[in-house]
Amino acid sequence: MKLRRLGRTGVLVSELCLGTMTFGWQADEPSSHVILDRFVDAGGNFLDTANVYSSGKSEEIIGAWLARQDRAEVVLATKARFQTGDGVNDLGLSRKHLLHAVRESLRRLRTDYVDLLQVHAWDPLTPLEETFGTLHRLVEEGLVRYIGISNYRGWQFEKALQLCRSRGWHEPVSLQPQYSLYARATEFELISMCVAEGIAVLPWSPLGGGYLTGKYKDGVRSPPPGTRIAESKDAEFYARRFENERVNRIVRTVEAVAKETGKTTAQVALNWILNRPAVTAPILGVRNADQLVEDIGATGWSLTEDQIASLNQASDIEITYPYDKRAEEQQTSDRRLD
Ligand SMILES: NC(=O)c1ccc[n+]([C@@H]2O[C@H](COP(=O)([O-])OP(=O)(O)OC[C@H]3O[C@@H](n4cnc5c(N)ncnc54)[C@H](OP(=O)(O)O)[C@@H]3O)[C@@H](O)[C@H]2O)c1
Repeated sequence: MKLRRLGRTGVLVSELCLGTMTFGWQADEPSSHVILDRFVDAGGNFLDTANVYSSGKSEEIIGAWLARQDRAEVVLATKARFQTGDGVNDLGLSRKHLLHAVRESLRRLRTDYVDLLQVHAWDPLTPLEETFGTLHRLVEEGLVRYIGISNYRGWQFEKALQLCRSRGWHEPVSLQPQYSLYARATEFELISMCVAEGIAVLPWSPLGGGYLTGKYKDGVRSPPPGTRIAESKDAEFYARRFENERVNRIVRTVEAVAKETGKTTAQVALNWILNRPAVTAPILGVRNADQLVEDIGATGWSLTEDQIASLNQASDIEITYPYDKRAEEQQTSDRRLD
């Protein structure tokens, strides 16, 4: 795995980040530790978790593993925002909850700092000044190295960024959005903002939760056993998402490119996202070491321009005003220097 800069920071991270949402859920502690060891052996140094994954178990599993590592070698990201208990303030981005959440994450992770603390989603109730002032203080106190954001809209991220700049606070350096061949609306506003601001993009669900591997041959109502959809109680949700002509076309195209390249479907879908503008590191999700080894095989080679074009075309979504070509031309027509 190659290294990439985390946005405009001086920190280097592996081009694949290991997501740990499956830890304590589909991967027990021993298998999670095998996955972590394999990832590091392959040159990975970047881990993503959240305080709510498996109700904190994911962080505990990482903490037990981290205790045996050289802490400085790992770039560790976690998140706070979602419900952690029954109390009315056990969620959100208030100073009260954030400070509590970080202390609890550090305890579970058995470390005295996290490298990247991400707000997991927008909080409509807490003023941005309260959230980002608290995050700034956490960096100043050394409990957090960098601040990141997940699941914000473009205007929300830009507003937070400008607030930090105006106050001289530490700025968010990364965005963790859903982004894949399936989820390309992310490109409209968020990716162009990240390119303009030098923000690191860390796509979550780069394989559409596993759907883009093409293994759901008989649809989501007859999923292969031992898969996320088979274990979910909400086949309807997945049917609404994936059972349509566009997604069928994407999967067929990924499979065709896989055949051409001699790579697997998962490797093709991951290679496509690895090379999108502003993307620093897609966040892998795996339930075992075999999946991990296969997914790491997405690095070290490139799709051809034609293959990328056919994947782009198959996954295109209808672009309307204000993102369509016509609107872009209106913005730039008389303001171009040749
Ligand atoms: N910020 C957020 O709101 C947010 C939301 C979601 C996720 N995340 C982060 O993003 C990470 C990745 O998300 P994700 O798990 O949804 O990613 P994903 O890559 O879209 O899906 C991962 C799933 O695909 C299947 N899979 C992976 N590699 C495979 C292979 N080689 N062959 C066959 N199946 C394979 C596995 O599921 P099965 O074995 O069950 O089929 C695996 O759990 C998470 O761990 C988390 O860190 C963040």
